[in-house]
Amino acid sequence: MQYVIGNWKMHCTVPEAVALAGRIEDGLEDIAKDQPLPTVVLCPPFTALSAVSDVIQHRSISLGAQDVHWADHGPHTGEISPTQLKDLVQYVIIGHSERRESGETNEIVARKLKAVVTAGLIPILCVGEKELTSKAASEVATELKESLAEIEPKTVPDLLIAYEPVWAIGTGDVAESGHIAEVATHLKKTAAKIGISDGQVLYGGSVDRDNVERVVDISELDGLLVGGSSLSDQSFVSIVSAVSRHG
Ligand code: PGA
Repeated sequence: MQYVIGNWKMHCTVPEAVALAGRIEDGLEDIAKDQPLPTVVLCPPFTALSAVSDVIQHRSISLGAQDVHWADHGPHTGEISPTQLKDLVQYVIIGHSERRESGETNEIVARKLKAVVTAGLIPILCVGEKELTSKAASEVATELKESLAEIEPKTVPDLLIAYEPVWAIGTGDVAESGHIAEVATHLKKTAAKIGISDGQVLYGGSVDRDNVERVVDISELDGLLVGGSSLSDQSFVSIVSAVSRHG
């Protein structure tokens, strides 16, 4: 696996975020003495991006934003544009189910994806079925296709697709390995058919330090998107360590 991404959601004041990032960085430095690290991306809230970016010295930590607006600038009170993020982050989460719950459609996701790619940032596109179903693979493939509707796929050099079954997020229930493998394979095939030859698929949904060993064994996956467990440096560093040991 190549990626471990921590989504801090609406947690941490600025001082808390700086302290957490610092402890994670220390933990990663310890791992790096013995093993090569995956790419680690931290996604703090907007308010802490600048301060966290100042403390991150380790070359293996990158920063991501949790959302973005599609416009470059304009009268959009409370929104943040890709241009404003460009100096702070390399990655942007788009279409997280918690955004979709508040009305974000595939059409909006597609506009955001286009804006992020145009700005030269790397999108982390979230897709996932709402309820556990045997049709999950085709449901998320439709979400993927509709989210890519605004872009010419060949212009997307890097696309991280985060497969996050909504029913698994924050519930303690990690999807079965066979289910994750089946959906990941289908997402990769769908991306390839559209013209994205190297779509990377990450899994997210209740990954923690206890179940990570099972998830890292799923060879179809290229990484993990971690929510709750990224708020504890010990848990998050353990997850990175498991990914790193697994290679
Ligand atoms: P969780 O969140 O790890 O707390 O389930 C994952 C996510 O929402 O990205």
